[in-house]
Amino acid sequence: MYVFAFLGASLLVCALVWLRSSPRVLHALPLPPGPQTNWLGTVNNLPKVRPWLIYGGDWRQKFGDLVYIKVFRNPILILNSAQVVSDLLEKRGGVFSSRPSRTMLELVGWDWLVSMFPYSSKLTQHRHMIHRHLPANESSIKYHDLQIQEARNLCRLLSETPGQFRTHIRTASASIVLRMSYGETVDTAQYIPLADQALSSLAQAGIFGTYLVDYLPILKHAPPWFSFKRKALAWRPPVRAMRDEPFTAVKQHIAQGHATHCLVSEELERLACDADRAENEKVIANVASTLFAAGADTVVSAIAAFFLVMALHPEIQAKAQQDLDDVLGGLRLPTFADRAQLPFIEWIINELLRWRPVTPLGLPHYTSEECSYAGYRIPAGTTIVANVWAILHDPEIYPDPDTFNPWRYGDQQGGRNPFPDPAFGFGRRFCPGKHLALDTLFIIIATTLAVFTVTDDGEKPSTEFTPHSLSHPLPFGCTITKRATAHDLIIDEKM
Ligand code: HEM
Repeated sequence: MYVFAFLGASLLVCALVWLRSSPRVLHALPLPPGPQTNWLGTVNNLPKVRPWLIYGGDWRQKFGDLVYIKVFRNPILILNSAQVVSDLLEKRGGVFSSRPSRTMLELVGWDWLVSMFPYSSKLTQHRHMIHRHLPANESSIKYHDLQIQEARNLCRLLSETPGQFRTHIRTASASIVLRMSYGETVDTAQYIPLADQALSSLAQAGIFGTYLVDYLPILKHAPPWFSFKRKALAWRPPVRAMRDEPFTAVKQHIAQGHATHCLVSEELERLACDADRAENEKVIANVASTLFAAGADTVVSAIAAFFLVMALHPEIQAKAQQDLDDVLGGLRLPTFADRAQLPFIEWIINELLRWRPVTPLGLPHYTSEECSYAGYRIPAGTTIVANVWAILHDPEIYPDPDTFNPWRYGDQQGGRNPFPDPAFGFGRRFCPGKHLALDTLFIIIATTLAVFTVTDDGEKPSTEFTPHSLSHPLPFGCTITKRATAHDLIIDEKM
């Protein structure tokens, strides 16, 4: 009797699974709701500036958590809540983890950027290598000394030329990832301008749809005098050089016997007698340069936001400095050993990542096969945009979301708010640099606040950020002064 009941139930489950994935049944389902498409196959009045506000505001109210649009016939699905993001990007990673192809970026030469790879064995091979150096679930202790040195060097630069704080922030975060990947081989002062030149093409060509060739990939075969082709060819050399030059320099240093230990030297050693050496060397070069491309500017944005918030909220700064003084006694600079006693600094970091997420729409994912969700059909080849901004500004999860409030992560009436993990993306494409980024932010913020006080320039700076996919605070001024404690001694003698 039980056997028949069990068999019956199993058959029913199989039938439901089959029905859910059967192409005919899927095709009968409607597409998710969204604004009307015009004769060009594009939504009218597509928001161009800070689209995350419209997606998570008007459109969410009208259409809900799933909004389906078309841009030049390319299907795009916007996910506006933590629940749908978890159901699709986290729980159905096998279908939702690819990336849309970007023909213009490929023409420019960005095909080595791991974050652009579709979901494939090539991606897995590169991510494996990344995780060997950046463990997924814990901080990488091996980089702590390097991070401490760069945080202290930042303070030295700030004490000399405080007005150039944004350049100094960039130097500090770039140096951490460069030294991690290439050791002491690369001269930061030379590499940063080269990388900036390369990365500016990523910012311009990276916005899907800026170039017609993204919609009509066949155009990539157009003759070289076409304007987009000329641009792509002009951008190509720095993009290639950004990957190849530092890698070649490390190889030369190894050959000459004076390389310092780093990701590239360690991986090259591992290759020693590998049959596929040339191919595997490419993987190492791709990984090392991707870590710079993905890991420098993102951290810069969060540190710049920190200076802005300190200028805006003296009470938050005073509380953090009081905690630091209680732990350090004004006699020494912080290290990672002090972290557990400085929870308020961690809460400031959480709130920086939530209040103004560095990538308000994350990086787009892409469906590799057709599927259904909540009674809707999601076609294969749909670009998936997770509205990180909307999730981190959901008043149900983060009450009064526009207020910068680090205390929300402590014990409070109504409970602690969760760590803003969506700031680092989702599922199988989750940011592998999360812990490195959190470590860098901790040591830079703690060291800076131990030594300096940040105030506004007489008028409150704007809280506006750039409207780009990687968002930075708009230019602002602030005054950075050394604190009236024993910190002169610290700056001069102990760094
Ligand atoms: C505050 C700092 C950072 C933020 C907010 C951030 C955020 C993100 C986000 C949103 C993604 C896309 C995830 C997805 O597709 O769902 C990503 C991917 C990535 N991040 Fe980060 N990131 C930061 C720092 C770093 C650092 C320091 C590194 C390494 C040095 C790094 C390396 C990467 C890489 C390699 C990817 C591509 C992963 C893939 O496509 O599979 N990130 N990051």
